[in-house]
Amino acid sequence: MTKLGRLYPLLDDVRLPETIPYSQVSTWELQFLYLLGRHHLTGEDRLVELGSGGGGSTYALALGLRESPVFDERTGRLHAYDFFRVGKGTFATEKFFTDGAKPRGENSFLDDFRGRLEPFLPFLEIHAGDLWQTSDPEDTSAIEFLHVDIAKTARVFRCVAERFLTRLRPGSVVLHQDFAGPRLPWLHHSTGALLPYIEIAGPPIRSTLAFEVVRPIPGHVLKAVAEDSYSVDEKLALISAVQERIDRDHTGGIPFKAVLEFAKAYTAHYAGEHRRAWSIAKPLTSDEYLSRTRADHFEQLRRAYEQDREQHGGSRLTRLVRKAVGR
Ligand SMILES: C[S@@+](CC[C@H](N)C(=O)[O-])C[C@H]1O[C@@H](n2cnc3c(N)ncnc32)[C@H](O)[C@@H]1O
Repeated sequence: MTKLGRLYPLLDDVRLPETIPYSQVSTWELQFLYLLGRHHLTGEDRLVELGSGGGGSTYALALGLRESPVFDERTGRLHAYDFFRVGKGTFATEKFFTDGAKPRGENSFLDDFRGRLEPFLPFLEIHAGDLWQTSDPEDTSAIEFLHVDIAKTARVFRCVAERFLTRLRPGSVVLHQDFAGPRLPWLHHSTGALLPYIEIAGPPIRSTLAFEVVRPIPGHVLKAVAEDSYSVDEKLALISAVQERIDRDHTGGIPFKAVLEFAKAYTAHYAGEHRRAWSIAKPLTSDEYLSRTRADHFEQLRRAYEQDREQHGGSRLTRLVRKAVGR
């Protein structure tokens, strides 16, 4: 069993308080965050949460830390990064406001966040704003724990890779939220690139993949991840390597091999290879889970493929027929 794997049997016994703020992550994931804080993390190096939202995930982790026998609230620090406001491009929801909706003329839910996290403010350091602005490119301090619930675009993932993944060392723990999101393939191929240096905790917990760094990650690997310098073929191979390591999630609800196959389609899609993307995605339409939960994704890839075909003169057969009839 992996070191983090010993937390799995404890999941069912975690009872989180009713007072926990609204969270976009599931109860299982909150329970895992609590267990990490309570039984695994020490706070000797930085504890970092990227994408705290309304504070649900922050609360679960902070509660675990507070109840930990080793975490020292006087010296340990939990860093919370978020826009802490709603608006275009933020990926934040109005549900992060305490009332569940944005008050008139107010975009920021920072005060609501502070209010709900009040018991933990002494060891919480809040970084409000765009991650590219609020993170320090010069900061090389080691990170013990990194919760990534922010990398919803390639632009933000680049910041995560450049400024945070580079600060991991053996023993660091990383949680990737939204690992079941095929539209975020950078999470999947970067994990593939890190595989020789990490130990995956066990089956993902719903949409969260957890791993521990077990060997120093070479600088050239981190650079390639941050600069996104892998070719599409290389990225697909990296995702295949992850596919070999994970299957259904801990609750049995999410078939990760199929999800990762879909992430390959998005890798091709983002590279403008729409035909290839659809040829990977089309066979997945018969997957019960994906067809039920990701119908809009299939539609997006099918439409991109068809538009691309139209723009480039249709299929080979259409082009031959057009040529033969002189059109
Ligand atoms: C899925 S939500 C986080 C959910 C939260 N962990 C919870 O427990 O409910 C993603 C968060 O990332 C934040 N975010 C996205 N891009 C960001 C950026 N460039 N800088 C700062 N925050 C960002 C959004 O404001 C949003 O609150």
